[in-house]
Amino acid sequence: MQEALSGDKKVFLETFGCQMNENDSDRILGFLKDIRYSRTYEPGKADLIIINTCSIRDKAEQKVYSALGRFKELKSWNPGLIIGVSGCVAQQQGAKLLKRAPYLDIVFGPHNIHRLKDLLDEASLKKRPVAVEQSAEIGADEYGFTLPSTKHRAFVSIMRGCDNFCAYCIVPYTRGREVSRGSAEVVEEVKRLSDEGVKEVTLLGQNVNSYGNNGGDVSFPCLLRMVAGVEGIERIKFITSHPKDISEELIYLFRDEPKLCRHIHLPVQSGSDGVLRKMGRGYTVDEYFSRVSLLRSLYPGMAITTDMIVGFPGETGADFDDTMALLDRVRFDSIFSFMYSPRPGTKAASFKEQVPFEVKSERLRILMAAQREISLERNRRLEGSTIEVVVEGASKTDVEELSGRTSCGRVVNFPAPEGERTEAGCLIDVSITHAFPNSLRGMVAERLKA
Ligand code: SAH
Ligand code: SF4
Ligand code: F3S
Repeated sequence: MQEALSGDKKVFLETFGCQMNENDSDRILGFLKDIRYSRTYEPGKADLIIINTCSIRDKAEQKVYSALGRFKELKSWNPGLIIGVSGCVAQQQGAKLLKRAPYLDIVFGPHNIHRLKDLLDEASLKKRPVAVEQSAEIGADEYGFTLPSTKHRAFVSIMRGCDNFCAYCIVPYTRGREVSRGSAEVVEEVKRLSDEGVKEVTLLGQNVNSYGNNGGDVSFPCLLRMVAGVEGIERIKFITSHPKDISEELIYLFRDEPKLCRHIHLPVQSGSDGVLRKMGRGYTVDEYFSRVSLLRSLYPGMAITTDMIVGFPGETGADFDDTMALLDRVRFDSIFSFMYSPRPGTKAASFKEQVPFEVKSERLRILMAAQREISLERNRRLEGSTIEVVVEGASKTDVEELSGRTSCGRVVNFPAPEGERTEAGCLIDVSITHAFPNSLRGMVAERLKA
């Protein structure tokens, strides 16, 4: 979480959606810091409330409306309160949001974060209609300065938008066309973060493997090497890789670049060639599997995770069986699985054969149960081994314990060692004693030996 900023006014910021949005929230706070806003976690104490929204599935969009409902009444006893909506719902709906929430003051899309100060000025002058900024034009100062989300870890955007137009996906409509950021600018930001004490950076893009195709001056593997050259950076991660664009050069970089964490998130979406074709994903199941096999043969311990959609229009029982077969064949370390949700304006929303909710929900249940077993099996292979963990803070389930992450992204909980530095960002060797489907438990290695 962002540390408290110093200033005269208070902002309450709630973020939904992906890391891209988390990163945008960090940038929003960066811009607000310049105009003397500090962060509060209590909406009742805020002068400004911003909801940074996501519209990837209908459920995500509905969360925005319920959050707005909660904040509406705060205006009745604090008339000076400014309420804003940013992110993908803001980009998609724009001024239409005012029909549902006429008390809104500002609406701005992901490409307009650098306009925030002007929008706030307009809002506080009570100019009507409210300030709405949806332009998709990318300003020179658009990236602004990111404040690290924690002291030791930060996300760095390396590109915006997406050109893939997968049939189900709203992102190309909310985030616009793909544009890469110049490598020098990315490296400069990483250096600045390293100077502030950041040890781990995650490079962000909807399809990092096409970095450099539209703007940018080097290939993605080359950018990774440049980032690895920054002193003080110890771990480098990236999301998301598109299976159709992942190159052998990148695959071999996991061998040659020790700072690169051996984890890849490679969303497959379905195990059926027919469904993948209708989705417009640009690869077959066998092509996907050959990439994964190469990665696993080169680096047996590498974590491979994925996204799956069940109930895409026209998905038959046989298609779903193919997805289950792929799950069994690849044995992913973990997956994010979703019921298909029709998004307005996307190609698949108009497909005739929508799958009934009950069928989608049953398929999701079956998929998740099978993956739980596989995740447990993959985690059990780590019992008895000693793994380097970056401390993140107190464990969510037991405040007496610490929680950290392995370089593959697995959560490890362990009792806090006495007499050792354990603040967030410290590296500790932990011996794994128990595996669960979604986490590991262990003891600090030295202690176990003693
Ligand atoms: N750029 C990334 C994914 C971005 S969205 C990629 O291409 O892999 C994150 C995930 O949300 C997707 O991988 C997909 O599994 C899921 N998703 C996107 N649109 C969806 C929809 N309409 N219904 C259900 N899940 C969806
Ligand atoms: Fe959406 Fe496909 Fe782009 Fe990913 S690659 S953001 S799923 S359109
Ligand atoms: Fe959601 Fe927009 Fe990210 S739709 S998943 S916040 S790109």
